[in-house]
Amino acid sequence: MFIAVEGIDGSGKSTTIAELEKFLAARGHAVHRTAEPTKLDTGRAIRELLGQKSERPYTRHELALLFAADRLRHLEEEVEPMLAAGKTVLTDRYLFSSLAYQSADLPYEWVRELNRFARLPDVVVYIGVSVDTALARLARFRQGTEIFETRGFLEKLTTAYERVMAEYAGRVTIERLDGEVTMENIAADIEQRLSGIFPKKI
Ligand code: TMP
Repeated sequence: MFIAVEGIDGSGKSTTIAELEKFLAARGHAVHRTAEPTKLDTGRAIRELLGQKSERPYTRHELALLFAADRLRHLEEEVEPMLAAGKTVLTDRYLFSSLAYQSADLPYEWVRELNRFARLPDVVVYIGVSVDTALARLARFRQGTEIFETRGFLEKLTTAYERVMAEYAGRVTIERLDGEVTMENIAADIEQRLSGIFPKKI
């Protein structure tokens, strides 16, 4: 099973993924955890570009192409072999991130086309959170802000994610988690909302 976790910056993704991994392991899944941007060459180049504080050292078209390139190599070198080996692959961000983030300032159809060869995940776990909560978390946990972390952008992104999920609703299982719950309650929320689609393996 190929599971992608999605949400805006500050949605509490890292903590949720750690809990999700424990939940899946307890249900008998051999989990392989991964993320995009990846640790492969293109993924590292993307992180370097995103981390730079000065004027954007890239064009938005270039960034969209880099995310798509990173994704295709991720699939070929890591995701597909792990799935073939019987693992449950859990990725922190995937296709919907490009469709939401890059389409904020580029034509949606073009971004989708770039990602034509990126297979759909089996399940998308979307962490829904208010922009206020996301901004408060980002202010607490990070020094300085990355380019994607302004209020206006996070609002635009939330709308973009909703659009993407509406488009893919019939083709991918989409499960929502409540990103407003406190850290201690994340595990309970996962248990309550996801037990139905991840039955215990014998
Ligand atoms: P992260 O902070 O969740 O590790 O992700 C890094 C940033 O990259 C985050 O702001 C979201 C952004 N991103 C895109 O814009 N498009 C993509 O396709 C992916 C995977 C991430």
